[in-house]
Amino acid sequence: MEPPHSSTQAGERSLTPEHSQFGNACVAQHDRHNATVMIDFLEALATRWLSRRAEPRPQALAATKSLSPAVVITGGSSGLGLALARQFAQHATAVVLIARSQPRLDDAAAGLAASFPLVRIETLSLDVSRADAGEVIKDWLSGKQLYCDVLVNNAAVGLSGPFSASEAGKLETLVETNIAATARLTRTFLPEMLARGSGGILSIASLGGLVPGPHQAAYYASKSFVISLSEAIRSEVSGLGVRVAVALPGPLETRFHARMDAEGALYRAILPAMTPQRAAASIVRGFRLGRGLIAPGVLPTLAVLALRMLPHAVTVPIVRWLLDTGRSPLPPPSADQQ
Ligand SMILES: NC(=O)c1ccc[n+]([C@@H]2O[C@H](COP(=O)([O-])OP(=O)(O)OC[C@H]3O[C@@H](n4cnc5c(N)ncnc54)[C@H](OP(=O)(O)O)[C@@H]3O)[C@@H](O)[C@H]2O)c1
Repeated sequence: MEPPHSSTQAGERSLTPEHSQFGNACVAQHDRHNATVMIDFLEALATRWLSRRAEPRPQALAATKSLSPAVVITGGSSGLGLALARQFAQHATAVVLIARSQPRLDDAAAGLAASFPLVRIETLSLDVSRADAGEVIKDWLSGKQLYCDVLVNNAAVGLSGPFSASEAGKLETLVETNIAATARLTRTFLPEMLARGSGGILSIASLGGLVPGPHQAAYYASKSFVISLSEAIRSEVSGLGVRVAVALPGPLETRFHARMDAEGALYRAILPAMTPQRAAASIVRGFRLGRGLIAPGVLPTLAVLALRMLPHAVTVPIVRWLLDTGRSPLPPPSADQQ
């Protein structure tokens, strides 16, 4: 009896679909490995450049000698924050997720721990809009034998509808969470990073921070603050060893828009939304490579160019058309006017 395939010479054998799938998988794995090696190499070059004037203080280094470095992510329990945690966990010793809801933090931490068993995953239930949030985080970290190596200012809330009709309490929460907390936490952790001559601060803004946003006026203005603050600090600390970056995602597939009651706006129907996973991969790659302003994806990159070049007289009416929820800026008529 002839052995199977005996009529075909070795080397002439045609590949079965299984063979070709296996071959493709090997090539893809090889390409991924090469890309990883290249990014590690470029990250090392970027670190050298970003540390060219660094002056690590022996005392500051000694203070963290017995502690582990942590990536601290505000708003790490869902959406982009959780996706960023997954990306950082591929390179970090410890990842700390901060948000208000403990059950959601527990779910997020369980998922991360299952995927990254060698990484220490911790959670802290905290409202970062509290004036003392920075000190609370700092003390909590040292109690856990950790220190903040990378701070990710990601937690934020939105507010849609005409500014004149915004609820005072919600406006206050937005200003405290998106603006004040970003400034306070950065101010808390930046000095010790500079003293160590290493570390990083990644703040999540939005494409909306480059243009006034009628019908999301306070949210867009808050992201403008985050961009301006980050770019200015990056310039101040240039060469001192600390990465300072700001990310400008376009619309993402998260519950953010529903939470701010903006699902009825035109932009939700016509602008493509990116997955938080894709956005996070691009943001963390840009951060590792030492970029200052990171627009994740091709469309956001083009949008940054357009929004930086075009005058507001052109862009603001377009943004207003996209964000309009149909709610009137006029106060409702009082009973005697009806
Ligand atoms: N979604 C988009 O289309 C989009 C586009 C551009 C930029 N961004 C930016 O991306 C970032 C993440 O947004 P997302 O879409 O992932 O939103 P998300 O799904 O609503 O997640 C927000 C996260 O922040 C936490 N959080 C909110 N307020 C907090 C507070 N005061 N203290 C502590 N944690 C708080 C939330 O948890 P708790 O509620 O449990 O506290 C949650 O973990 C934000 O900075 C947002 O402005 C989003």
